[in-house]
Amino acid sequence: MGAASEAGGIRRAAVIGAGLMGAGIAAHLANAGAEVLLLDIVPSDLPEGASRSVLAETAVAKLLKADPAAFMHKRNARLITPGNLDDHLDRLAEVDWIIEAVVERLDIKQQVYARIDAVRRPGSAVSSNTSTIPLVRLVEGASEQFARDFMITHFFNPPRYMRLLELVVGEKTDPATAQMLRSFADERLGKGVVDANDTPGFIANRIGGYFLQCAMVEAMDSGLSVEEADAVLGRPMGAPKTGIFGLLDLVGLDTVRHVGRSLFENLPADDPFHAVHREPELVTRLIEAGYTGRKGKGGFYRLNTEGGGRVKEAVDLATGDYHPAAKPRLGSVDAARRGGLRALVESPDPGGAYAWRVLSRTLSYAAALVPSVAADITAVDEAMRLGYNWKKGPFELIDELGAAWFAERLAEDGQAVPTLVALAAAGSTAAGAFYRVAEGNLQHLTPDGGYADVRRRPGVLLLADVKRRGERIAGNSSASLWDLGDGVACLEFHSKMNAFDDGTLKMIGTAIETVMMSGFAGLVLYSDGDNYSVGANIGLGLFAANIGLWPAITELVEGGQQAYRFLKYAPFPVVAAPAGLALGGGCESLLHSDAIQAHAESYIGLPEAGLGLLPSWGGTKEMLLRHTQNRKRMHGPVPPIAGAFETISMAKVSRSAEEARELLFLRGDDGVTMNRDRLLADAKAKVLELAVSYAPPEEPTFKLPGPSGRAALEIFVGEFVNSGKATAHDAVVSGQIAVVLTGGDADITEEVSEERLLELEREGFLALIHEPKTLARVEHMLETGRPLRN
Ligand code: NAI
Repeated sequence: MGAASEAGGIRRAAVIGAGLMGAGIAAHLANAGAEVLLLDIVPSDLPEGASRSVLAETAVAKLLKADPAAFMHKRNARLITPGNLDDHLDRLAEVDWIIEAVVERLDIKQQVYARIDAVRRPGSAVSSNTSTIPLVRLVEGASEQFARDFMITHFFNPPRYMRLLELVVGEKTDPATAQMLRSFADERLGKGVVDANDTPGFIANRIGGYFLQCAMVEAMDSGLSVEEADAVLGRPMGAPKTGIFGLLDLVGLDTVRHVGRSLFENLPADDPFHAVHREPELVTRLIEAGYTGRKGKGGFYRLNTEGGGRVKEAVDLATGDYHPAAKPRLGSVDAARRGGLRALVESPDPGGAYAWRVLSRTLSYAAALVPSVAADITAVDEAMRLGYNWKKGPFELIDELGAAWFAERLAEDGQAVPTLVALAAAGSTAAGAFYRVAEGNLQHLTPDGGYADVRRRPGVLLLADVKRRGERIAGNSSASLWDLGDGVACLEFHSKMNAFDDGTLKMIGTAIETVMMSGFAGLVLYSDGDNYSVGANIGLGLFAANIGLWPAITELVEGGQQAYRFLKYAPFPVVAAPAGLALGGGCESLLHSDAIQAHAESYIGLPEAGLGLLPSWGGTKEMLLRHTQNRKRMHGPVPPIAGAFETISMAKVSRSAEEARELLFLRGDDGVTMNRDRLLADAKAKVLELAVSYAPPEEPTFKLPGPSGRAALEIFVGEFVNSGKATAHDAVVSGQIAVVLTGGDADITEEVSEERLLELEREGFLALIHEPKTLARVEHMLETGRPLRN
């Protein structure tokens, strides 16, 4: 064993240190299909009879309960073998990659390396997950071979979900080994790998650490409340809504202190970080009292559960007392909603002034760090997008403000204008400054003042790039048709949350016609947004039902059924490429495609029953087909109809593509892409593969039991109602689902057509949408975003 295989080269890996990060990294390696050895120390105070591998064993048990889930499927836990460094060290000789994730202490890490080096196979990769210790220090005194095989791979927490991986190589690191890890992390772990230089905090924590410090002390100095600061430096600047103090709580006040101190100690004395770094007395007090953030008793925010309530409270930055968190009213936040980032920082209220003080300094800080922390500005922007979940990186934000405007305002303010900002301001045009588009290509400013193409790795295709290169073929406000090249078209969904409406259905029709008329080989269904689709626009349905516009509802149901029927039987291959949510009507579009190429983080399901409805754009029929065609289900313990019934009536939604496969939303040949940036290219390749000898599917017929089968399903539901697990209305809803799945009045000797099943779907849907309890569910969902159990 041990020879690095293709596909990125890692079949077996080991993680040393089963703490927060080590355990999460081990789980994600297992998600990528690697076998993982997870080792920690044997605790010195081990009770008699306890397992010597207790730390790693406990870590795996905790991973299985983690929320959000660490594993894409619980069975992946079986790929992890827990062990300890005393009894199982030799087994490191069997692995291709050893990741060190032990406590952040140089002496301990170096001791661990010496032990690793004595047993590992020369040529196996070794990397550290350190957030603060320079690589040059880590390899001091190590063997030549160790230095050649060693690098830093800095994951972000939680490793499954945070897309950034900073890669730092040393002078002696073998470029081939680095390239092997880079490809594996990119293609198999799905990470956005950013090459960083060996400087303190690398890229994201260096800028993010500065941002957090600056924003925290500025809020305190200018008398803003916790809630106000978060309202300003969250959504309005394209950062997560946790803002500043919410993020400090999430990361952990003690962890932020640690990163801050380490930056303080390691950065040169003239680094601007020193000017913003201080630990406010309140923070010291909070940490000492166990208010370390969400993992502790709370932090700047806490949940007060006294008296059985759940009241979110925020700390008063001046007094340290908690009060119920208030939703702040700030003109600057409203201004940003209307006029964007520039309106935010130009607002005359305290929020606007605060935003300018923090952003101007953070963006300038970032601008002064290129090329010392990374080769170019694209690495910095990507690191902040993927590591801190900003919608735009620092240079993209300056472009949004206008580089020339930004430089001028800095000068007016008496702040230094970083060289790179001056260069961008000089080249500032309507078409951009840090970035520009030349002949359809996105280009970035280089440190010498020139421009270079933004390069994508082979196998990466972004719709944003496609859009820069060509005109859209057709479109409306809900969806657009694009040419992906090589004869493949792409139907992009882009309504709000990608809720499917009449416009979406019309564009499906237009797309089918265009593909046929213009000689495209096939079609990809896709969205560049966070979610493929949240489902049909139920707001429209509710509105129509409330005013008794039943014909309009019938029309929408029929329209969807017809559009998806055309999609299914079109004379060319259709590949759906979901990422994020693909629910309801969105899910049904997947079910009618020839193949699905799903992002690993796809949350697929038919939640209609929760709304008191049933899937009626052909989804109930297609799930029945998937279950009847699946060999395992046909001969397994749960008969196909019961399987489909369970999934639909319980409104099951997968929490990963792997789970979606188990629920049969995905079929055997459907593919999963780990890296979001590779999804579109993979879907396009799948279209071309299917196009080679494409024939549309044959229309199936079904043998269904009719009323007797339905009675069996109803008995099953009756038990749920009796035991309080389902409501009476749940029984009404699943009763209608059962009618469709058993073929209505069919009997087992007859063939039931697809057309008949669609008719049953329509009848069931219309019956249910007349029910007041269904309307109450829909209304509640629209108002609160949560299901109502009535
Ligand atoms: P942790 O405290 O949760 O886990 C550290 C683990 O190291 C523990 O399981 C401990 O038993 C083990 N350990 C202690 N002494 C050891 C020794 N002599 N030999 C082997 N193992 C030993 O720490 P965490 O947060 O998982 O951090 C691990 C590494 O990841 C650190 O280098 C940290 O800087 C880095 N990191 C942490 C992030 C975070 O958000 N917590 C994010 C990114 C990197």
